[in-house]
Amino acid sequence: MYNELVSKKEKLAVIGLGYVGLPIALEFARKISVIGFDINPKRVEMMKQGIDPSNELEKEAFEGCDITFTDSLEVLREAKFFIVAVPTPVDEHNVPDLTPVKKASETIGKVIKKGDYVVFESTVYPGCTEEDCLPVIEKLSGLKDITDFKSGYSPERINPGDKTHTLAKIIKVVSGCDAESLEEIAKVYELVVEAGVHKASSIKVAEAAKIIENTQRDLNIALMNELSIIFGMMNINTYEVLEAAGTKWNFLKFQPGLVGGHCIGVDPYYLTYKASELGYDAEVILAGRNINDNMAKYVAKSVVQHIIKNSGDVKLSKVLVMGATFKENVSDIRNSKVADVVKALKSYYVNVDVQDPYADSEELQHEYGFGLVEKVANDYDAVIVTVPHNEYKELDDKYFSSITKSHGLVADLKGIYRNSITNRSYWSL
Ligand SMILES: NC(=O)c1ccc[n+]([C@@H]2O[C@H](COP(=O)([O-])OP(=O)(O)OC[C@H]3O[C@@H](n4cnc5c(N)ncnc54)[C@H](O)[C@@H]3O)[C@@H](O)[C@H]2O)c1
Repeated sequence: MYNELVSKKEKLAVIGLGYVGLPIALEFARKISVIGFDINPKRVEMMKQGIDPSNELEKEAFEGCDITFTDSLEVLREAKFFIVAVPTPVDEHNVPDLTPVKKASETIGKVIKKGDYVVFESTVYPGCTEEDCLPVIEKLSGLKDITDFKSGYSPERINPGDKTHTLAKIIKVVSGCDAESLEEIAKVYELVVEAGVHKASSIKVAEAAKIIENTQRDLNIALMNELSIIFGMMNINTYEVLEAAGTKWNFLKFQPGLVGGHCIGVDPYYLTYKASELGYDAEVILAGRNINDNMAKYVAKSVVQHIIKNSGDVKLSKVLVMGATFKENVSDIRNSKVADVVKALKSYYVNVDVQDPYADSEELQHEYGFGLVEKVANDYDAVIVTVPHNEYKELDDKYFSSITKSHGLVADLKGIYRNSITNRSYWSL
């Protein structure tokens, strides 16, 4: 397989060209012939013109690439090595929604041929590839995994907005349905991953490795959030505590904050779902999820308490929320917990303005029912800085004084203005 791809006798296809799929497709397209397949024709059209619909890549990333963007099964059929990078969200009850991976499996089932390879990259619980996806491919194609075609799993580890830890620079975990496929899959990924590959002993091990990376992060942040709530009651600044504790060599450097996005706040639910299917209640993981999911309400309550104490009339109060994206320096608003902060503030009848240098106002309106203000006012009762966008790091006491009332509060969730706000009240997680 590897030799056929490298000699361009055969093609590799990436199915699902979002934050994960497009970068990997373009990276491969510098070395071999690639088919980029997506079900969304609008996105396909944009990519044909060298535009990344997810706003992460510049036009140059498309230059010099041997890639055909398509939504046609006939074109997809030309590939021999399929990589699946479609979304794996949860529904409103936090239950894994496998519709996209199952639909992508149906797509592959319709086009796969004897001798082909399928590698899943979407984040799933251990067992999902072999128990939920491959049977769909087998049923539609009439072919058998291992004997007729080969399968594997290789989780994606990119970190949105991170220009240092790029795809090529992060060791890639790979796995295969047997020893031969593991070697072939490893060689194919080595084409694009400079950092090299780690060969996991099975597909399930590779799936589990990915899911615990994000679960571990989620739990560590949950601990910081819980500590922040406790220290808040004691009038102790959490960031000062973390600075002091961080001088010990083995203290882990996590911070409190809102946990949104499509990975850390979602992936642990895939694991807890599978655990509960097996009759185990994953108490620690779910406790962490619970704390993180409730931080938006805690932030809103803390700000409203300040308003009640200082100006009294919450209904007349105005709050500016700075930062609407799920993390700093990205435009992605999916599963942003800032929307929960806005919702919680509005539940107290606070008048809320939202500002963000990266987010798209129309997208916010469509997704959450509020847009961005064109111009910030000068009479806010409180300003909540939710994410440390680079643009916000430059702001100072003078700026916040100019946009808030004299009794105003600067609620600095990530502690970026610690020790620098003197003219206004200051609060951080
Ligand atoms: N975004 C990240 O930083 C990141 C990091 C690591 C892992 N992951 C995982 O990677 C997977 C993909 O995430 P993403 O953020 O790239 O998603 P995304 O929402 O950015 O993109 C998904 C793309 O798949 C397309 N699509 C949906 N269903 C399809 C189907 N049946 N057939 C073909 N195309 C289809 C959509 O049109 C879209 O273009 C998820 O499992 C996610 O958990 C994401």
